Amino acid sequence: MPSTLSTLSWLALVAPALALPSHGVPGKNQTGIKPITRIQLGPRPYWLIDQMEDSPLKTKLRSCSEKEMRPSRWSIGHRGGGTLQFPEETEASILAGTRMGAGIEECDVTFTSDRQLICRHSQCDLHTTTNILTIPSLAAKCTVPFTPYNATTKQSATAKCCTSDFTLAELTETKGLCSKMDSSDPQATTPEEYQGNVPGYRTTLYSGPGTCHKLLTVKEYIALVEALGLDFTPELKTPEVEMPFGSINFTQEAFVQQLIDEFKAAKIDPKRVWLQSFLYDDVLYWLRAEPEFAKQAILLDESGDAPSTISAATASLVKYAQDGVKIVAPPLQYLVSTVTDQDGKVKVVASEYAKQAKKLGLKVISWSLERSGWLADSTKGGYYYSTIANATAARGEGVVYELLDVLASKEVGAIAVFSDWSATVSYYANCFGLFP
Ligand SMILES: *[C@@H]1O[C@H](CO)[C@@H](O)[C@H](O)[C@H]1NC(C)=O
Ligand SMILES: *[C@@H]1O[C@H](CO)[C@@H](O)[C@H](O)[C@H]1NC(C)=O
Ligand SMILES: *[C@@H]1O[C@H](CO)[C@@H](O)[C@H](O)[C@H]1NC(C)=O
Ligand SMILES: *[C@@H]1O[C@H](CO)[C@@H](O)[C@H](O)[C@H]1NC(C)=O
Repeated sequence: MPSTLSTLSWLALVAPALALPSHGVPGKNQTGIKPITRIQLGPRPYWLIDQMEDSPLKTKLRSCSEKEMRPSRWSIGHRGGGTLQFPEETEASILAGTRMGAGIEECDVTFTSDRQLICRHSQCDLHTTTNILTIPSLAAKCTVPFTPYNATTKQSATAKCCTSDFTLAELTETKGLCSKMDSSDPQATTPEEYQGNVPGYRTTLYSGPGTCHKLLTVKEYIALVEALGLDFTPELKTPEVEMPFGSINFTQEAFVQQLIDEFKAAKIDPKRVWLQSFLYDDVLYWLRAEPEFAKQAILLDESGDAPSTISAATASLVKYAQDGVKIVAPPLQYLVSTVTDQDGKVKVVASEYAKQAKKLGLKVISWSLERSGWLADSTKGGYYYSTIANATAARGEGVVYELLDVLASKEVGAIAVFSDWSATVSYYANCFGLFP
């Protein structure tokens, strides 16, 4: 069965023409930022398509090359969606992802010592995602201060700086504190050296001297995405400190509720908010206490990472569906596997996990495309391609669109895909008319 046709026929059934944004004029507008209407995908999707072997899918994708592109909620900006080249969780990454057609924008949510919510991919990554170690007054407060590489013992340089080590004002008002590309150099002997080692497939072009990407508070993220007229997908990050936290007695439930309360305070329609958490109790709390938000809450699943645990992860889907979960979001590799056809060609197909989710009526979202670097090097795409490494070994970069085509097919029926470079997913969504 030609995968392009299966996708088209599936869409004809489930996705009547829908447009974005469909929310009327956004209410709050503090940023002076307007909705981005001229979507530009840049050269990367075209280059990826050029890497594909000839196939009906390649022909179909090529046929869309001169199409006018629109934003699509099938394309979620992961940590903003410009993350391949722009510092994650920043206005710049969100604007880049939005320019590249993302219809839903992510902020990972964690908290400060004074119980304020801030966007960071994890509670304790400030030492690799900002230049905080180069600012002595802040560096001194880190959970684990900088320790240089020890040439005698060969011990790597270490540090651990958590948002909960600082007040919100310290993180947003300290002059010179900037987000950077996520990286660290294990052989660093100074905090300055520790800033380096950005992977070659990323870039520091947009975070060089003279630029400073401020850290975003959750309130600022809400105002920004509201002004852009897009949907929101805030992810509640699992705390890396003991809860209830500190002298302020901040419980997990209070944290979970505070995020909802910020959306309520900004008068955002729950239909535009796609909450995410890895913690099952968080999702159960939303189901119990915030049914309007729970309708499209996303249970993130990383319980099947090892070949020995994927069956148990698949079996657990029954319980999630019974408990009222509507959307599960596993990483890409859980949803696909490979088969080898008569001609010895390795094909990407839907996995048992994907089929089971479909059977149970669970909707599926997946993460994260464009985090893997080169697909044809010795990693074969690493973690996110681990179940289809035979395909990447055989065909390299072009496999990204084979993967997306299976995610969009009726066997999987993914309702959206997170990406570090939104253009790649937006191109596919536009080509196949995916505007959920
Ligand atoms: C936001 O404000 C700016 C100027 O302050 C205005 O030009 C723009 O149209 C507004 N955007 C929306 C979505 O209302
Ligand atoms: C390296 O580790 C050794 C053994 O713990 C220690 O004696 C030495 O002082 C360390 N060197 C530096 C530069 O910290
Ligand atoms: C912390 O908060 C919990 C839940 O609100 C409450 O039961 C508990 O008594 C509080 N503990 C302290 C020390 O304030
Ligand atoms: C991948 O290819 C190798 C060598 O051809 C084969 O032994 C293996 O079974 C394949 N793995 C999968 C998951 O298809």
